[in-house]
Amino acid sequence: MKKNKIDFNFVSPKLDRRDINFLLNNILKQEIPNEGKYTREFEKKIAKLLKIKYVVATTSGTIAIYLALKSLNIKNGDEIIVPNITFAATVNAVSLAGAKPILVDINKNDLLIDTEKLKRKINKKTKAIITVHVSGRGSNILDLKRVAKKYKIKLIEDAAEAFISKKQKKYLGTIGDLGCFSFSPPKIITTGQGGVVVTNNLSLYKKLLQLKNQGRVGSSNGGQDRYESIGYNFKYTNLQSALGVSQLKSIQYRKKKLTDNYLFYKRNLIQNKKIKLFEFDTKNGEVPLWTDLYCSKRDELHKYLLKNGVETRLFWHPINYCKPYKQSFDNLEVSKMFNEKLLWLPSTLDLNKNDLKKICLLVNNFTKKYLQ
Ligand SMILES: Cc1ncc(COP(=O)(O)O)c(C=O)c1O
Repeated sequence: MKKNKIDFNFVSPKLDRRDINFLLNNILKQEIPNEGKYTREFEKKIAKLLKIKYVVATTSGTIAIYLALKSLNIKNGDEIIVPNITFAATVNAVSLAGAKPILVDINKNDLLIDTEKLKRKINKKTKAIITVHVSGRGSNILDLKRVAKKYKIKLIEDAAEAFISKKQKKYLGTIGDLGCFSFSPPKIITTGQGGVVVTNNLSLYKKLLQLKNQGRVGSSNGGQDRYESIGYNFKYTNLQSALGVSQLKSIQYRKKKLTDNYLFYKRNLIQNKKIKLFEFDTKNGEVPLWTDLYCSKRDELHKYLLKNGVETRLFWHPINYCKPYKQSFDNLEVSKMFNEKLLWLPSTLDLNKNDLKKICLLVNNFTKKYLQ
């Protein structure tokens, strides 16, 4: 392997000739590039795949979360519970809706929101929980559903990283009141940018449609438009949808590839107290979008791999560590323990066995030398 050249990226979107031809032939030659026929087809296909009634396509996963919150009439001063370990988008969507994010610590074993600690944060101002299925790993969703029911608050799933990942025989994102997905480049399918909100609730669905299209009901026809509420423009174009429709054809292949990547790492990496993978329940349909790794010498491992052509991705800092949401680590001890100790291994759809072998060999060499 050559030094200082990246041989293996953390992720690389898989858009093949078939996807591009589909876009060229179906949209650029025939359809207007606005939201339209292919957007409806994309939504329908996702509804069928995830066994959910309603799907609303929008501009990004961030906006999917924002729309989900707005459809629940979240207002200034409302409190929304979120995990302290997530991509900033989850918390920024709460801020965009004018609400206050309440940060809750995570579990040691799965990096997902801690249900017991969460219960202690519920008060009269609490209106919803957003649970995040980090890397495609399902959070304790049925317990969370019970908690939400008991306290009469809503449950939103940030399933941005968990498209077609399953827990307890159901697709993640379809268990709470609303689920939000992202199709940005590192995801299992990508349309450049984009996202969907899903729900089984008809009245939330109707609100979502108005919110994303200037508050209009029915067709958008200028003078004949009926404006029922305040709304915005968060439409999702035919251009994006066509790429999505095309990639959905290979979704099972994509799922298998990501699962195989993780299982290869699991079988071949040396693990001990200083270096450890987080498990996925692949037998029951959890899809490891990205393989996440704890390493006591994380930054050294990252640099060593980079020098040898392997790009890993450093895990996000905990939200409370970031400037706009700065607060102490009180009651956030697990997040503190993992701060700067986690990374994602290359998790692309085009890694082959030889690539994976090379990556494992390098990680194991590092472990033997520095982590015994
Ligand atoms: C956990 C999580 N939530 C939300 C988002 C936001 O999605 P988008 O980038 O499509 O806005 C992402 C995107 O990477 C994510 O990983």
